[in-house]
Amino acid sequence: MDGRDDGRGAQPEALNSVSAPLLEGEASRPALSWRDRWQARYQAGQWLFGRKPSAWLVSLDPILPRQGRALSLGEGEGRNAVWLAKRGLSVTAVDFAPAALARARSLAAEACVRLAVIEADITRWRPPAGGFDLVLLMFVQLPPAEREPVHRAAVEALAPGGLLVLEAFAKGPWRSCGPKTDEARYDPATLEHDFRDLSIIKLISGLTLLDEGDAHRGEASVVRLVARRPTLDGLVYAPI
Ligand SMILES: C[S@@+](CC[C@H](N)C(=O)[O-])C[C@H]1O[C@@H](n2cnc3c(N)ncnc32)[C@H](O)[C@@H]1O
Repeated sequence: MDGRDDGRGAQPEALNSVSAPLLEGEASRPALSWRDRWQARYQAGQWLFGRKPSAWLVSLDPILPRQGRALSLGEGEGRNAVWLAKRGLSVTAVDFAPAALARARSLAAEACVRLAVIEADITRWRPPAGGFDLVLLMFVQLPPAEREPVHRAAVEALAPGGLLVLEAFAKGPWRSCGPKTDEARYDPATLEHDFRDLSIIKLISGLTLLDEGDAHRGEASVVRLVARRPTLDGLVYAPI
């Protein structure tokens, strides 16, 4: 089953399924893997998620680090990675769609910042343990069998005291964008479980209005998390 976000509310389907919904520009149903469908979608032309960072991420500006290393899993076209790099972080952006990463590189070049860009499947690629002061998971909608190991890897990637920021479509009635089925949507209880080794600073869920490019526009039910890995002495420094 595969109910992940293709931004237009895809129904569950098997990887490589010939019954996958048509993407813009496709004349017939291709037998494409999930990665190839994302690639085709990005290749179709327009910026899917826009060039501006997530409003939720920007709202966290006062508590985000301004130096150190950040990792964005499923970064897409670079909007969040570039914003973090402009604030002074050394950012690694990982995605399996080369067309998205090409856009991320060009956005970084325009902004005169550098990104470390890695083309990889985050369900298999493992970041260096303890390597990052900030880990982002922005609208990376995975079914449980993939979500849990990716979330575990995200936790392990955090340095002591490091922050994890996640934003995702929430379970419940479908609004205007995101996956249409609950399988690849999250709720606070799921995130509390996945990130139980972190100190949760904020965990909120509710309706919002997204305006993030053509793929994320309109009313959406989202869940948002900020959590910190305790420091080695067990203390959590949370300047909120
Ligand atoms: C809804 S988009 C969000 C992109 C970006 N985080 C943002 O908020 O603008 C999901 C992204 O996750 C990537 N993705 C999905 N599954 C992935 C996987 N298994 N490995 C790497 N990237 C993946 C897709 O290519 C896509 O760029």
